[in-house]
This record gives sequence, C-alpha cells and structure tokens, in this order.
Amino acid sequence: MADDASSTETPIEDFVRIDALPDHDGDTVTLKGWLHNKRGSKSLYFLILRDGSGFVQCVVSEGDVDDASWAAADNASQETALSITGRVSADDRAPGGYEMQVDAVETIGDSDGYPITPKEHGIDFLMNRRHLWLRSESQWAVLRVRNRVQKAVHDFFQDRGFLQTDAPVLTGNAVEGTSTLFELDYFDDESAYLTQSGQLHGEAMAMAFGKVYTFGPTFRAEKSKTRRHLTEFWMIEPEMAFYDLDMNMTLAERFVSHIVQDVLTHCERELETLERDTTALQQVETPFPRISYDEAVELLRSDATAELIDERIAGLHEEQAELETEREENQKRRGQAKKHIKRQIDAREIEINKRINDIEEALRNLPDWKESAQTFEWGSDFGGSDETVLTWHFDRPIIVHRFPAKIKAFYMKRDPHDDRLALGMDVLAPEGYGEIVGGGERATDLDFLQEQIEAHGLPEEAFDWYLDLRKFGAVPHSGFGLGLERVVSWICGREHVREAIPFPRTIGRLHP
Ligand code: 4AD
Repeated sequence: MADDASSTETPIEDFVRIDALPDHDGDTVTLKGWLHNKRGSKSLYFLILRDGSGFVQCVVSEGDVDDASWAAADNASQETALSITGRVSADDRAPGGYEMQVDAVETIGDSDGYPITPKEHGIDFLMNRRHLWLRSESQWAVLRVRNRVQKAVHDFFQDRGFLQTDAPVLTGNAVEGTSTLFELDYFDDESAYLTQSGQLHGEAMAMAFGKVYTFGPTFRAEKSKTRRHLTEFWMIEPEMAFYDLDMNMTLAERFVSHIVQDVLTHCERELETLERDTTALQQVETPFPRISYDEAVELLRSDATAELIDERIAGLHEEQAELETEREENQKRRGQAKKHIKRQIDAREIEINKRINDIEEALRNLPDWKESAQTFEWGSDFGGSDETVLTWHFDRPIIVHRFPAKIKAFYMKRDPHDDRLALGMDVLAPEGYGEIVGGGERATDLDFLQEQIEAHGLPEEAFDWYLDLRKFGAVPHSGFGLGLERVVSWICGREHVREAIPFPRTIGRLHP
C-alpha cells in the first residue's frame, strides 16, 4: 500500500508505484521501472518489473499491443528501464497479489549484458558490483528492512520524550580505546579522529536535554575480518540523565523488542523474500533474561553447556546424513526425470551442498567452541563463539551485565558492591548474532574519571570538556549503543553484516 501522504496529496508523479497497485485494481495505469526478469517468447511475454517499491508481473500478448510496444518487450533484457501501461488485476497466485495485462511498453533506457544474472555468484563478485547488486530482490528486502528499523528507532524514542541530537563525526578524543582509531591530520599539527561512538558528546547533550539519542555513522579501524565487523557502521545511542543500570537495561530490552515487532508487522513481504524463519523473532518480547558476567562464566563452564554443544554436534551429524541420502536419491531419480524435474533437482542440489558445507564448517568449529567455553577464564572478554553458546540456553535475547572493569572503557561506573566490576551491559542476540547492544551506567566521580583517563593512557587535555560535565551538576546517568547493521543482519537472517548496509566498508573494501 502507498504511504499515507501520497494518497491524500495531489500526486507529483505521472505514473503509479508498484506498492500502490492495491489502490488501482481494475484501473489502467502506467508503471515505470526496470526489467527484473522475463519469460515466454513467440507471442507472449511475462515481464517482471521492479521499481524499488515492489515487483509485479506484466503480461504482454503480441495481439494486444502495437508493433513498437511488442518490439520494446521483445528487445528488453535484464535491467532495461521501461514504462509499461496496462490494466491492473488482483491475482492471488501472482507475487505481490497483482498482475498487469499490458497495453503499451516503452523503453526508457537500454541495458545490455547486465553482469548479475539469476545464477549463483560468489560474494566477491557481488560485492565488487555492489552498486548493481543493490537492485536484486534479496538486497531490496534487506535494505527495506534497514529502512524500517531506522523508522522504528525514531518512533520509539520520539514517542518517549527523547530528543534526537547529533554528535560530531570528527573528534579530538578516543571513546572506545585507542587501538581502533582512524586518525587524520587536522590543520596546524593537530590530530582528529573519526568518531568511534557519539557517547561522550551524547552525555553532554543528556545534561542539557535530559533524554537524548544520537543516530550517526561511527568508525573503527577493525583489523579483524569477521562476519560482525565493519569499519564504518551506524549506531543509535540513547543517553539518559537520572537512569541507573537497571533502568538502562529495561529501556534497551523494550527498544530491541519494539524494533523486532515493528519489522515483523511491516516487513512481512521482505522477510518472506529472504525466506527468514521468524519463529525465534516472534519470541523477542520483554523481559529479556538478565545474567551477570559471573553467572555467564559459570554457565559457559558448566556441564549443561558441554551437553548443549554435544547435542548440536549430534544433531548436525544427523542432518548431514539425511541430506547426503536425499542427494543420492535425487541423483538416482535424475536420470529418467523430465527436464523441469531435472532443474528442480539441480536447484535442490545447490541448496543441499551449501547446507552440507555449513554443517561441515560448524562441525570443524564446535570442538573449539566447547574448549573455549569450558576453559573460559574469569576476566577475559567473551569471544563470538562464547556469546553464541551462551544464547543457546535461552529462547530470546539476553542481557549480560557487570563485567570485569579491566575489559571495559574508562568511563564506566564501578559496581559499588564489587570494585573489580564495571556497571556495563551487553544485549546478545540469539541464533549466533552475538552482541547487538553495548552500554552501561557512567562514572560520575571526577577524581575517579581523571584516574581512569590516565590509567587508560588517554591525553587528559582532550577530555577537559568531558570532565566539566562532572563539575557542574553531575547526576547518575546511563546509555547504550545499538549497532544498526548487526540488528538488521540478525532480523534478516543474513550471515554477514556487510549486506545490511548499502556500501559496506571493511578492512579489504573501500569500493564501490
Ligand atoms: O559496545 P560498543 O563498542 O559500545 C560503544 O561504542 C558505547 N560507547 C555505546 C554507548 O554506550 N553509547 O558498541 C556498541 C554496538 C555493539 O553492540 C555493536 O552492535 C556495534 O555497536 N558495533 C559494531 N557493529 C559493526 N561493526 C563494528 N566494528 C562494530 N563495533 C561495535
């Protein structure tokens, strides 16, 4: 359905968008878009047109259109830009529920030899052509979910009295340690950094406006290649005056749950396109289980964790055996099968091989995961596998809180009951997606912060302004950061965060 505004204002466009077709059942309208796919020949074509708002099948019959239109349909290839006029009709079998019987076709822009075809392509091939890959159906779905998450973020905070405030991208100080800073020259021998987090400026704005959130790009010179790390990512960072750690955790769980429920409600089509099994997402409801770091360490080392991992290994062996049997049986059937069945078998074989590869990789890794969990030492930071294993014990995201201070940033408040601990908290997503939120209660004591800045080897001058916040009406306050791409890749069930941003930046990728 078209958005509300476009249905009440006089239209600007002299064409209809595909998502507005339900408002035009039975009408003759013009669509403008690009050819996504084409079937048929001789005297009938089925053109799948995409225009960014959706996909629709347009049926062109040679007898119904003039020669120029037929030639346009005949010549059109993948990504040719077209204007298509025809009659809209509801059709339950059609993807999107509507179809068009075409009266006229006009070419707007040619496309010849489009490199991304419906066959399988490797990830590097696709990423090198990211500027084109964005047009594919899966990327359409992922980036529309991203857009919905962005809207849900603003709705959530705007409805709760938060002010959106913007933190600078160029900063003079580190926030999250010095090892992942992007540094650049900033006139007269001064260094500037691309911000790692808007938090410190967010704290200043919270003291001015009470409840604020920033939503901006953040940068980390992450040297590691993992499925969870980008060098440029977008973070949403609320900061609240007079909030303690518990209040902060409650806000974080409501926020995450709001985003997930909102996407489930508004992006059904996108999630279907991605073949996302949403069972686990449906359960993302508050309250989330909260466990302390100490409890998490105990759980990792427990027999229950060892058993869970062993069960996974057994389950994967079983699934692998079933898939191998299916593959063999399909191969036997293939010999005598009709052409279209052969195609189905081949398509299934690709799926089976992919899944078996994943299973083999998991089976290679799981013994190390078990070792890491069972020998986990108090005081270390959780690795990706530890986070994953922890979440296997629960049916929804979990919050881990009160971490050893020495693995956390300089600004965290110490636990008044145990000075070794910082009042930090992380939200871990299920299904192996790991940390999506990091935050905590901020230290307010001036002397303590001065000590910490020194102990972390940070230059005190750069933090003079920050320390002012502790001199003039310091109050308990808390906040957190949610990584947009981590959340989008989790909701979309994508393996890697790089698909959750239009143009990803990673250690090996600055183009396109
Ligand atoms: O845990 P982090 O480092 O926390 C902060 O930056 C705090 N200053 C936030 C705050 O309290 N205002 O990062 C927060 C979140 C992580 O949970 C993760 O979702 C995301 O940012 N994130 C990354 N996402 C993609 N690529 C990376 N390299 C990321 N590093 C962190």
